[in-house]
Amino acid sequence: MTRYEQVKTELLASPKTWLVTGVAGFIGSNLLETLLKLNQKVVGLDNFATGHQRNLDEVQSLVSASQWEGFNFIEGDIRQIKDCQTACVGVDYVLHQAALGSVPRSINDPITTNETNISGFLNMLVAARDEKVKSFTYAASSSTYGDHPALPKVEENIGNPLSPYAVTKYVNELYADVFGRTYGFSAIGLRYFNVFGARQDPEGAYAAVIPKWTAAMISGEEVFINGDGETSRDFCYIDNTVQMNILAATAEQASEIGVLNVAVGDRTTLNELFHMIQGALQTEGFTIRQKEPVYRSFRAGDVRHSQASISKAESALGYSPTFKINEGISTAMSWYIKDSRK
Ligand SMILES: NC(=O)c1ccc[n+]([C@@H]2O[C@H](COP(=O)([O-])OP(=O)(O)OC[C@H]3O[C@@H](n4cnc5c(N)ncnc54)[C@H](O)[C@@H]3O)[C@@H](O)[C@H]2O)c1
Repeated sequence: MTRYEQVKTELLASPKTWLVTGVAGFIGSNLLETLLKLNQKVVGLDNFATGHQRNLDEVQSLVSASQWEGFNFIEGDIRQIKDCQTACVGVDYVLHQAALGSVPRSINDPITTNETNISGFLNMLVAARDEKVKSFTYAASSSTYGDHPALPKVEENIGNPLSPYAVTKYVNELYADVFGRTYGFSAIGLRYFNVFGARQDPEGAYAAVIPKWTAAMISGEEVFINGDGETSRDFCYIDNTVQMNILAATAEQASEIGVLNVAVGDRTTLNELFHMIQGALQTEGFTIRQKEPVYRSFRAGDVRHSQASISKAESALGYSPTFKINEGISTAMSWYIKDSRK
């Protein structure tokens, strides 16, 4: 039995109360779905800045009525300490996901990104510390590696941040570390590497690459690649990310962990990704009109290559990713197709 299977069995036998911030978003709503299916009680906090009621409705349709009764949604804003305090009452484990994602958004509006991702993060840390929750796990980011050239990325070696977004995620790590030293309140930061899967928003200027390209291919629109397409990423299917959150929240030696990469340990170029999505759609019976992508300029703030070492996550938490990129893409494809028909 893997540690994840063992933890899930223990949670089923002895349910806990979880707070998921950003619960109406992509990762948050997937955490909610898994936790409710494990009969946990979940408090959710979101202000719908980038999340959607439809994500919560979809989760409701996927769980039983009694599991859904275990969910208490609070519409609130992490920039308001009172909302964070209300959400933390009686909570065992915090999974803090709420933030404004996207490098270009942060370049266009660094102030709102800073207020949400740094002040909001600090509010959540203070509220969770004061409520004496059992653990605090938060969404950090691979953008913290910045311009450090080494591959694969190991947690100890980071470079200079390349965007305001990356600064905010790095400051989260600094605050989390200082809260451990100063107040004895430990937190685990999960440096996500390009997560993808169901309920990841395909719309808007700041959409992530996999849902955006898939939606474009389905509707016959052009797919653009920023740069020459040899930019690479360690794409991580959502189930691996959910696994890491649950393992981190229930870890016994949280104070010794700090930050961990959440990825698969593989590297896929954008050119490879383009053909992978094309192939998956063809398998689902779609005729692809655009055979090749349209190349345009590199985008400011983007890291050139990204690939994680997952050794620390494996040894510290018994993490074992269950989905490679191609398996994740085939699994997610039916959701994207269904979503495009809404
Ligand atoms: N998706 C990825 O590949 C990825 C990679 C690295 C890090 N992350 C981090 O993971 C977390 C979740 O990302 P996601 O992809 O699910 O994005 P998302 O935009 O789908 O979810 C974020 C959620 O936070 C909510 N939110 C934003 N500001 C808020 C505020 N002030 N108060 C309350 N709620 C607020 C949004 O409404 C949304 O529901 C974020 O912290 C993001 O920075 C994601």
